[in-house]
Amino acid sequence: MIFNEEKYTLGERNIVLRSAHEDEADMLIDYLKTVCGETNFLLVNPDEVKYTTEDEVKFIKSHNESDNELVMCAFVDGAYAGNCSFTSRGSSRRARHRADIGIALFRKYTGFGLGRLMLERLIQKIKDCGYEQAELTVVSGNDKAYHLYESLGFKECGRMPNANKYDDGTYSDDIYMVLKF
Ligand SMILES: CC(C)(COP(=O)(O)OP(=O)(O)OC[C@H]1O[C@@H](n2cnc3c(N)ncnc32)[C@H](O)[C@@H]1OP(=O)(O)O)[C@@H](O)C(=O)NCCC(=O)NCCS
Repeated sequence: MIFNEEKYTLGERNIVLRSAHEDEADMLIDYLKTVCGETNFLLVNPDEVKYTTEDEVKFIKSHNESDNELVMCAFVDGAYAGNCSFTSRGSSRRARHRADIGIALFRKYTGFGLGRLMLERLIQKIKDCGYEQAELTVVSGNDKAYHLYESLGFKECGRMPNANKYDDGTYSDDIYMVLKF
């Protein structure tokens, strides 16, 4: 579905939230490689981001044309800052009440309330779609994200120990969180 452009201010910063455009595919791939290198809290290492322009156009198109999935980009003073999205946990009747959320911002655009703003708007859209719960996975040690999700009403509902193994041999857990409407 399309997220029509919305404008906000956070302090001195001008924020625009909107759906991704298909001609922004390469920008989204470059962003993913950068943010995956800036933090250990995302799914993969930057060298494992292998999406082609074609893959990314497909991703943007399928979300924009879907009636229950959405990708929302944020721009700060005109510059791309990151995105968040939701997808359905499945198309079966048993799973289609569950929305799965992802979010990542470039490090330079974190820490001033943008993540909260984006998630508040995303959660409203998830409710509007008729989902009964929103779900996400956060890595142990990502205290900022955990705090943000808790303050939005998400509750921890389980953990997978040592779900992630890093190149230096250390591990982190996956923490599952759910927000029931
Ligand atoms: C996680 C992320 C989306 C949060 O967005 P953000 O814009 O930085 O977050 P906000 O500024 O809106 O809010 C962060 C909250 O955490 C709090 N916080 C910051 N550091 C914290 C810490 N170390 N421990 C606990 N809380 C912390 C802030 O005070 C704020 O809470 P408040 O609104 O009650 O004051 C963003 O930092 C990001 O993209 N990080 C890198 C990728 C990532 O981790 N993605 C999430 C994967 S699950």
